[in-house]
Amino acid sequence: MCTVKDLRELGTEDLREHVAAELSRTRRRSAQLTDAVDDEDLVKQHSPLMSPLVWDLAHVGSQEELWLVRDVGGREAVRPDIDDLYDAFQHPRADRPALPLLGPREAREYVGTVREKVFDLLGETPMEGRKLVEQAFAFGMIVQHEQQHDETMLATHQLRDGPPALTAEPPPQQPAGALPAEVFVPGGPFTMGTSTEAWALDNERPAHEVHVDSFYLDTTPISNAAFAQFIAAGGYHEPRWWSEAGWRYRQKASLEAPRFWLRDGDRWLRRRFGHVEEVPGEEPVVHVSFYEAEAYAAWAGKRLPTEAEWEKAARHDPATGRSRRYPWGDEDPAPEHANLGQRHLQPAPAGAYPEGEAPCGARQLIGDVWEWTASDFLPYPGFAAFPYREYSEVFFGPDHKVLRGGSFGTDRSACRGTFRNWDYPIRRQIFAGFRCARTPIQDES
Ligand SMILES: [Fe+2]
Repeated sequence: MCTVKDLRELGTEDLREHVAAELSRTRRRSAQLTDAVDDEDLVKQHSPLMSPLVWDLAHVGSQEELWLVRDVGGREAVRPDIDDLYDAFQHPRADRPALPLLGPREAREYVGTVREKVFDLLGETPMEGRKLVEQAFAFGMIVQHEQQHDETMLATHQLRDGPPALTAEPPPQQPAGALPAEVFVPGGPFTMGTSTEAWALDNERPAHEVHVDSFYLDTTPISNAAFAQFIAAGGYHEPRWWSEAGWRYRQKASLEAPRFWLRDGDRWLRRRFGHVEEVPGEEPVVHVSFYEAEAYAAWAGKRLPTEAEWEKAARHDPATGRSRRYPWGDEDPAPEHANLGQRHLQPAPAGAYPEGEAPCGARQLIGDVWEWTASDFLPYPGFAAFPYREYSEVFFGPDHKVLRGGSFGTDRSACRGTFRNWDYPIRRQIFAGFRCARTPIQDES
């Protein structure tokens, strides 16, 4: 594993080696996720919310062909006839099974052919002179794109019926010990976003100073046990805890509990990748929508953190005044820092990963569960779309809420202190939970 903190320090050959290792590591995961089920399962749509797994696989190859083979490499197209089939903007997920998609064997051959060409052109691509290839940006973008689809494919696995197809070790069971319920983050400016992270995407740029007032943040994400108290207190039946839009959604979808929870007498069970098990009270809650997170926070007398509050808690180092790449420092995530990369197929108990603690004392900001924030997905001041408008710009606005920090299903390459994810506030199949924040009351701290 490459442990460099800054790709700008690498020479061209080392950079190429890093790219090759990241591409191969990523493809191994895509292969695991698609080899775990049979062909019939690969072409089936497990939920109208998701594409068939075989669509994701060929789509990953199609994007790699467009950006690396054709654009960066200037090579001849491999399959120009299928560009349209795998353009996510042309076909909503629900319509994808009806398309004349490549079958499992063809899709595997196609992504293999594209990858061979990419390895071939990698050796002769100069890593400078054109913005798209500086510090191998386009390669990094493609690695992140495939990893993001690997997380989407993991969500498809969670939605599929049938016996378990994936296996993984359980996460570390570190006891929480006596952690304070909240940490205090003093008011003041901090640097949000980045202008230097080589593979950061357009929406994370540029670095800019933001003033954040003092606030308290929960030390850990909200646990299943805490969320079960909200349910037991009738939280799903009390409109006063819900926003207007949230309550409308709660009514329409008849929400009673997080997705995949099942009532069993006086206890809760859940379905997790084909296993039915008791809901572990100490784990962060996952598979809740923004609206449920917002309602819980209101019930608890708190609110969701803004995106700026979340990032300040995760990155600001009061000792130096600078923003770190990650809560623990500038080194890439290692297994002792955070629950990332599908090493475990569930979150670790709230309070785990002491080595990943942020300077403010908050834990698990990276990994375990994506965290809903109160913020709409908007451009930073000075935003410039790159390399194409459809990456972020077309999603800006009040329809999408920002999620931060990555989940157990997120790869380290697609997760950092500045990384911004976004989704509709009704989404529940993603690996999302939350933590709460609050504004200090007068004379407090
Ligand atoms: Fe995509």
